[in-house]
Amino acid sequence: MSDDPLTPPSQKSAPDRTTRRTAAVIPAAGRGVRLGPGAPKALRALGGTPMLIHAVRAMADSRAVSLVVLVAPPDGAAEVKTLLDAHALPERTDFLVVPGGDSRQESVRLGLEALPPEYDIVLVHDAARPLVPVDTVDAVIEAVREGAPAVVPALPLADTVKQVEPAAAPGDPEAVVATPDRSVLRAVQTPQGFDRAVLQRAHATVTEHVTDDASMIEQLGLTVVTVPGHEEAFKVTRPLDLVLAEAVLARRRLNDGF
Ligand code: C5P
Repeated sequence: MSDDPLTPPSQKSAPDRTTRRTAAVIPAAGRGVRLGPGAPKALRALGGTPMLIHAVRAMADSRAVSLVVLVAPPDGAAEVKTLLDAHALPERTDFLVVPGGDSRQESVRLGLEALPPEYDIVLVHDAARPLVPVDTVDAVIEAVREGAPAVVPALPLADTVKQVEPAAAPGDPEAVVATPDRSVLRAVQTPQGFDRAVLQRAHATVTEHVTDDASMIEQLGLTVVTVPGHEEAFKVTRPLDLVLAEAVLARRRLNDGF
């Protein structure tokens, strides 16, 4: 059984670091409309390899991750299985493919339902963040192993952020209502790491729409902590992000050559 996240760390017995098993769930069922017309985002190529294969490798690169659950577009599970078979992946990692749902939240829930019982740490990683370095993945897992119920990689913001009164039509001027103090804001990435029981409880009880899993844990009243994120863990959302991702891959190839 996993640690009780409601008990303060000082009252817990030391987490059993050797037996806690880690799985990664990768929601990859989005269409990616902001990227422009074409195949579902996760199936688009980066450096000649589909984005979701990069994301799978990024998780499987961590020696702690022994299962990756890929949540495919609802009508694309067979295609995703074929893609996994066609690409070299670490042999020590198991893979499962399940069809996704209408929202990211539903896709993650369907991925969680497919997890065998022996996994008690779960990473949730967007297929749209194909280039996250393994050190970031390992830092998230380590913080969960140390007893945090939920962990997110986070970066300080470069831009000042304004809260606005959203306009009725896109492009119309919007009234600014507040400027939050940038020094206390963070942009969060994935993989987000969780005590499995806590994440399942969150998915069973939180029904309102969220844009990440950690915010569901916040709604349960539990503490979410950050670890340093990485600039290469950016989300591929718009066409310019594809250019950046190709540049990161080209730099890695160059560095690997030496
Ligand atoms: O749309 P957004 O960029 O926030 O999506 C984040 C991740 O959630 C992507 O990897 C996308 O494929 C996934 N997603 C999903 N099922 C949906 C919508 C999004 O798995 N219905």
